[in-house]
Amino acid sequence: MDKIVIEGGRPLNGSVQISGAKNAALPLLAATLLTGGAHRLRNIPLLRDIRTAKTLLYHLGATFEEGDPLCIHTDNLDGFEAPYDLVKTMRASVLVLGPLVARFKRARVSLPGGCAIGARPINLHLSGLQRLGVKIELQHGYVEASADRLVGNHIYFDIPTVTGTANLLMAAVLAEGQTVLENAAREPEEIELAKCLTNMGASIQGVGTSVITIEGVSQLQPMDHTIMPDRIEAATYLTAAGITRGQITVTPCIAEHLEAVIHKLEQAGVHFNIGEDSVQAIGGEVIRNVDIKTNPYPGFPTDMQAQIMAMMCLADGESIITEKIFENRFMHVSELKRMGADISVEGNTAIVRGRSKLQGAPVMATDLRASASLVLAGLAAKGITELSRVYHLDRGYTRLEEKLSGIGAKIERVKG
Ligand code: EPZ
Repeated sequence: MDKIVIEGGRPLNGSVQISGAKNAALPLLAATLLTGGAHRLRNIPLLRDIRTAKTLLYHLGATFEEGDPLCIHTDNLDGFEAPYDLVKTMRASVLVLGPLVARFKRARVSLPGGCAIGARPINLHLSGLQRLGVKIELQHGYVEASADRLVGNHIYFDIPTVTGTANLLMAAVLAEGQTVLENAAREPEEIELAKCLTNMGASIQGVGTSVITIEGVSQLQPMDHTIMPDRIEAATYLTAAGITRGQITVTPCIAEHLEAVIHKLEQAGVHFNIGEDSVQAIGGEVIRNVDIKTNPYPGFPTDMQAQIMAMMCLADGESIITEKIFENRFMHVSELKRMGADISVEGNTAIVRGRSKLQGAPVMATDLRASASLVLAGLAAKGITELSRVYHLDRGYTRLEEKLSGIGAKIERVKG
């Protein structure tokens, strides 16, 4: 397995090119299943999860013309099953459920099971589909979904689930009549999906708010869409400016997607210059401690909790970080402590005492954003940090070592 080796202690300065958003690309790839024809998707990020999603589409009968745009042909789909060996490597595979039942009235998708950060149930996806008339049976670890027809209905999400909202959005666009999704997720990735579906001929109102109304249509056209920049990748590099006391510009970047993160980093002493399609972060001499609570968008994103915790290890005081979305998203804490951080965890709250001098160490990635946290810590630490199991990192960060080297980091990937 590959390793990433970092010699830390250098301020990073320069500009980073941000790739297409992973969590927008995944539902968009699933949405190609909604109708036949030649779909065109631009700015797809080169990530492990994207390769997994394309493998799943291929398994269902889609064919590809590689390039930018990526051209995806979905006329001759001959499969309806998302097999366990694919779903277990990427739980976002469940996003094919909505489109398959919408177009073919059937699907067989492996239950994703849990992952490092939590149980990750999909009960809200399934109960929403049942509200549209889909029969759901759980057999041998698979969801067996079937319907004579999909009929619009009022669906209330107990929790504003991101992929649950995407799944039901994609199912409802071809349902008969009106569907209302209440307490829907408001993430920018939902807006991106709805914009693309609308361009394909769907009728959607209210996306980006917690109430989305969909009028079903009988047919959609193939998509032709350019994926927005990845807000979490951008936020990770902006945090790198804070933790290394450097100056980093990320572009392209939609600053309004990052309001909560920018607000917290400003409190921590980072200065920002917001451009038309870029954001520059200038790390402060002193890192100030801030308290963080993760929340659904537009709150502070759980996908940035691990990264900002790495920075708070160097703050000049105590930070209280509360993880309110996932039940086990502190896997990075024990590795940060091996680098000298002073952190204690009580339930879903981490007390980061700050004033640590991080030292380079051999550390292990456990999940995608935990590995990003350890990279940030390694960039700030004195000495050498060796990060193993970097396949976690490759799920969500394109050419990370190349982008970091380009702004002054001493970082290399050692092929395992
Ligand atoms: C999406 O996961 C993202 N993944 C995650 O990003 C992100 O952390 C998460 O949203 C929260 O923002 C993709 O978009 C591919 P949820 P998702 O359904 O949709 C509970 C990354 O690092 N829940 O919004 O799976 C669930 O257990 C990844 O890029 C139910 O109880 O998250 C969690 O506690 C990690 N029942 C909460 O809701 C359900 O049916 C939010 O989960 C669905 C969810």
